[in-house]
Amino acid sequence: MPEVALRKPASDARVPRGLKPPRGTNLGIDSRPMKIRPAESRDGMGVLALVPQLSAFGPPPWRDVRQMIATDERVVAAALSGLAPDSTVLVAEGDGGELLGFIHLRPETDYFTGQDLGHVADIVVAPEARGQGVGRALMEAAEAWARERGHPMLTLNVFVENAAARALYERLGYQAELIKYVKDLR
Ligand SMILES: CC(C)(COP(=O)(O)OP(=O)(O)OC[C@H]1O[C@@H](n2cnc3c(N)ncnc32)[C@H](O)[C@@H]1OP(=O)(O)O)[C@@H](O)C(=O)NCCC(=O)NCCS
Repeated sequence: MPEVALRKPASDARVPRGLKPPRGTNLGIDSRPMKIRPAESRDGMGVLALVPQLSAFGPPPWRDVRQMIATDERVVAAALSGLAPDSTVLVAEGDGGELLGFIHLRPETDYFTGQDLGHVADIVVAPEARGQGVGRALMEAAEAWARERGHPMLTLNVFVENAAARALYERLGYQAELIKYVKDLR
């Protein structure tokens, strides 16, 4: 996928002073300057250091957080190293070359139609870079990735308690489709 450069427009570039953009429209006004590009080997350590953030929201009590992190690290490391050839990892890089976040994408087969859909396996924005449009930019890059590959839909899974992630997805127009119920029998 080609690099996508995102720039912060001048504050009066698109919105007349005093007018608020309508909800659901991203005019990039508050976005931090960044580019989205495929991960390279130099990104490996930084990406893996962000992986524990996936479990930082407070998983349900029947989940072992250390096990969750170990599994996520293994899966993301495989995606980064090319051991999972269908997987793609994109990173968001700031003006100064700093790693702002990453997204891990792969195809997934739809149970009902058998079609290949795009799937967001993981997305993390560095804690200090949150609230600046990085998550949105990574998700928009994921949608471009999915469209380029002809996937008719983009899917993802999210824990019920992960309020920030659910707010991001809902803000971008994603709708909940399936709810997984769990009863701890131990
Ligand atoms: C979820 C996450 C990726 C969001 O990244 P981010 O860069 O802070 O998100 P953005 O700044 O692009 O926010 C985009 C929209 O999401 C919503 N949003 C994001 N974080 C939010 C929060 N904490 N509370 C409420 N809404 C939030 C907002 O509506 C925002 O849109 P707006 O600013 O136009 O109103 C980030 O919090 C994160 O890395 N969390 C830890 C890892 C994780 O849980 N990943 C998801 C796994 S399923």
